[in-house]
Amino acid sequence: MAQIELLDVNKTYAVGNNVVKAVDGVTLEIEKGEFISIVGHSGSGKTTLLSIIGGILSPSTGRVVVDNTDIYALDEDRLSEYRALKIGCIFQFSSLLPVLTAKENLLLPTVFRPEKGNGFEKKAVEHLALVGLEDKIDAHPSQLSGGQQRRVAIARAFMNDPDIIIADEPTGDLDEETEAEVMELFKGINRQRGITFILVTHSSELAKDATRRLRMTRGRIQEL
Ligand SMILES: Nc1ncnc2c1ncn2[C@@H]1O[C@H](COP(=O)(O)OP(=O)(O)OP(=O)(O)O)[C@@H](O)[C@H]1O
Ligand SMILES: [Mg+2]
Repeated sequence: MAQIELLDVNKTYAVGNNVVKAVDGVTLEIEKGEFISIVGHSGSGKTTLLSIIGGILSPSTGRVVVDNTDIYALDEDRLSEYRALKIGCIFQFSSLLPVLTAKENLLLPTVFRPEKGNGFEKKAVEHLALVGLEDKIDAHPSQLSGGQQRRVAIARAFMNDPDIIIADEPTGDLDEETEAEVMELFKGINRQRGITFILVTHSSELAKDATRRLRMTRGRIQEL
């Protein structure tokens, strides 16, 4: 049984009188531990598809089965739990809370964990070091560069030991060298911890590094 199964997933958006078919009949199986890249033109449905896999956006029709659970058949609480514990998200735009420091932003996903206070602070510091921000632990997002903010968001995605990372252009605003470092970090985590990666990227260089490459074209998906 695949870890993630998409069964004829469709997503349409209504904008005024227009209907946009953002995802069009996607059927896909993803095994645990795969490192998948998704490329495709702007507007081809990549972010929409990632959001559907991440439990953030329900499809118009079709099913998303993760570890044998039809996630959009779950009640709201269980779906939130799925998002919080199973999925680590890195969005196209950094989503840090401006009033919190880097470390506090990392602790945010752990606040609802029952075992609260157990080593999360230490883990947050370790994760920030992993992305080269050991000297920025107490900085607020406004005191960080765009690329540094992005790295905080990357470190945060791993805080709850997710099974699946969905990443939307995670290296979009990083220089080439940092981009390569982040990619090495991802590949290392993928190998060591068996976390599944689904990475949307415009960079064909980065896409090549994946173990499986997909392309989206007008809502449809194809293997490369
Ligand atoms: N909330 C929304 N309401 C209406 N239309 C939307 C919404 N979100 C996305 N769309 C439309 O759905 C289509 C797919 O958008 P999506 O954001 O998934 O594309 P994308 O492949 O991620 O593009 P990009 O590479 O520019 O990020 C586009 O035509 C977009 O305009
Ligand atoms: Mg997008």
